[in-house]
Parts: sequence; structure tokens; C-alpha cells
Amino acid sequence: MRKLAAGNWKMNGTRASLSEVEAINAALDDTDPAVVICPPASLLIPAYDIGGKIGIGAQDCHMASSGAHTGDISASQIADTGATYVIVGHSERRTDHGETNDMIKAKAQAAHEAGLMAIICIGETLTEREAGETLAVLGKQMSGSVPDGATSQNTVIAYEPVWAIGTGLVPTLDQIDEAHRFMRAELLATLDEDAQHISLLYGGSVKGSNADDIFSVPDVDGALVGGASLSAHDFVPIIKALSRA
Ligand code: 13P
Repeated sequence: MRKLAAGNWKMNGTRASLSEVEAINAALDDTDPAVVICPPASLLIPAYDIGGKIGIGAQDCHMASSGAHTGDISASQIADTGATYVIVGHSERRTDHGETNDMIKAKAQAAHEAGLMAIICIGETLTEREAGETLAVLGKQMSGSVPDGATSQNTVIAYEPVWAIGTGLVPTLDQIDEAHRFMRAELLATLDEDAQHISLLYGGSVKGSNADDIFSVPDVDGALVGGASLSAHDFVPIIKALSRA
């Protein structure tokens, strides 16, 4: 599995923040895993221009390749900036914009057609976890939003429990292990044997202080990091923890 440390800047950052991209790139050496930063759309081009070894990704794309969709950005437009990744199905988009599994699958397909790596996000709410529905929810989200054409070359899947995002709460290592084993088994049951090589990221309150523990879980191939990816000071220790794993 390809190890990947991905940063999701969400709706944070202006051109002044590009110095953090430069500082993160400066801290990378040949032993480090792949690193991707997903800045807001306004920074895709300048982040790509100074990103060096860092891959650049967008945070969403439209399922259509062009057309009358005010305010949206297509996968091919993202690819045109030099970016090579796009996050689809983040829980904040599922909640804020009513995105459904069908829409997310179509977005992932659009990403694939544009030659982008889709980072497809799934994760349960606290209510679902407390009701014992976590694996059922993850299974439904995977079968609903991962397209048939998903391979290790075009897809990464991120497990982000909604209740762990931005809260400082982190599932136990056993809970992460259970979710990631389940995701790997689902991929193997529905896709061909290449599915075992699809990278599975954990996301939700990852910090330098918990990264070593999280990366010790066998089917965790990296992280999708929100708040702690906004600065080199916080993100570089996570990258280095993944290098050690
Ligand atoms: P935090 O790392 O801020 O909890 O955010 C996680 C996330 O949503 C990444 O996509």
C-alpha cells in the first residue's frame, strides 16, 4: 500500500498561507511518504507552483465536465491547475450540501475520467455508532459511493468518523482497526484483487501526539488531516510519524 499523508485545509487559507506549503515541502526527504495538500480552490494554482514534492488536491468536484453550474469546479478544471487529487464525499459536504452516495460515486467517476486520484470519504455519526450501526453505515457508504472502476491507481478511501472531526475525540485503536479491516474486506469482496492495494486513510483529530499510535494499526495506510495540516509545525510531525510506521 502506498502510504499517504493528506491535508484538507477546508475553507481556510489565503495566499499568506502558501509559506506553510513551502515549509512543509522543505521538511520532506526521500524517506517520507507521499504528501498531498488540498487547499481551497483559490489556492490550487499557486500551491501547485510552489508545492515541490507535495501533491496538490481539491476538496470537491462537480460530476459534470463543464456547463451551467455556477460556483462549481469540474474535475478536468482541477486537473488543469496541476492538481492530481480530489476529495469527494467529505462529511461536511454530505451534511452542508446534502450530497448523497450516488452523487459522490458520480463525482469519483468524474475524477477518474479526468485522471485524478479520488479520496472518497466515509464515516459514521456518533448516533450511528452508539446504535451499533457503524459497520452497516460504512458498508452502505462504500457500496454506494465507490465506483466499480476504483483501483489503487485512482482511488484512496478515508475513514473519518464524523464525531472525531475537529473535536479532539479519537476512536480507540480497536475501533479504527475494526473499521479499516471491514473496509479492506469490503473492497476485496466487491472489486478485484487490486483492491488490497487501495490506500485506506484514517481522519479525525489526527495530531503529532497520536499519529504513531494510529499508524500502528495494520490497515491504516495514512491520514487525512484537517486542522493539524494548516501549519508545517503541526503537519510535519504527522508526516514523520507515517515515515516511521
Ligand atoms: P480534523 O483533523 O481537524 O479533525 O479534520 C479531519 C478532517 O475532516 C479531514 O478531512
